[in-house]
Amino acid sequence: MTQRDGLAGKWALVTGASSGFGVEFATLLAARGANVILVARRREPMEQLAERLRREHGVRVVVEAMDLSAPDAAATLKARTDAQGLAVDVLINNAGYGLYGDFHEQPLARVMNMLQLNILTLTELAHRYGREMAQRGSGHILLTASLLGFQAVPGYAAYAASKAYVLHLGEALHAELRSRGVAVTVLAPGAATTSFGDVAGQTDKGTLQKLMMSPRQVAEIGIAAMLRRRASVVAGFRNRCIVFLNRLMPRALQRGIFRRVMAGDV
Ligand SMILES: NC(=O)c1ccc[n+]([C@@H]2O[C@H](COP(=O)([O-])OP(=O)(O)OC[C@H]3O[C@@H](n4cnc5c(N)ncnc54)[C@H](OP(=O)(O)O)[C@@H]3O)[C@@H](O)[C@H]2O)c1
Repeated sequence: MTQRDGLAGKWALVTGASSGFGVEFATLLAARGANVILVARRREPMEQLAERLRREHGVRVVVEAMDLSAPDAAATLKARTDAQGLAVDVLINNAGYGLYGDFHEQPLARVMNMLQLNILTLTELAHRYGREMAQRGSGHILLTASLLGFQAVPGYAAYAASKAYVLHLGEALHAELRSRGVAVTVLAPGAATTSFGDVAGQTDKGTLQKLMMSPRQVAEIGIAAMLRRRASVVAGFRNRCIVFLNRLMPRALQRGIFRRVMAGDV
């Protein structure tokens, strides 16, 4: 498997590598022989992960602890990897978070911070690393969007809109970059057992609790789709059914249903 994947000895950069999906992405890539660069704010969990990946898979691991919501974060990260002579062949653009609640009740600074991370830094990383991949004629980029990016979601208004951006950006880049040898894939997970809900401030999960997938399941689906060079993938059969049924519904009904599901009313 390692030989055919062609990932052995390549460098993969994973953002959001201190918890949730990012830990699983890094683990799956290291298991395929890729060296990994772990990026998030919390250094300690990443150092522990790095230790485990070196021990279990014999790969090289670099830890970059930084706040990716800073406006200059993408440029700083690129400069750091360049300074170490690391050519990134796989970019897992995954760091992000949500804010649950009425838009106007959320502190504006938090909303702007979330958009900076979920949209602007993600875009800049895709541009800076993707450009080099295109020049080399090879590479993979995986963007973590969300099931919530397929329709408007009251309660997650700005977050869902940010993930609609990620979904559309990624699918368009897939079409633009495929002839340059770069595969861009969007992963759209539904609810999963990570810190996402706690960070977002969503306490009552209702039906969502029953739809939860494990972060390992989600990451496996994402990596498999990325290696198959797919444009996008919705994680899990039930989530794919939701996206399919959504298309058959008037948009007002979509957002009515999602409002109730997010509020834990159904
Ligand atoms: N779990 C779900 O239900 C779900 C569903 C759909 C989509 N998603 C998306 O999946 C992605 C990963 O989330 P997750 O579910 O794995 O949640 P998670 O466990 O909370 O992980 C989020 C990761 O992003 C990092 N991060 C957050 N803010 C950051 C910042 N300012 N700078 C650098 N790193 C930052 C966190 O690290 P630090 O805190 O150490 O910085 C952490 O490693 C996100 O884009 C999320 O929107 C999640």
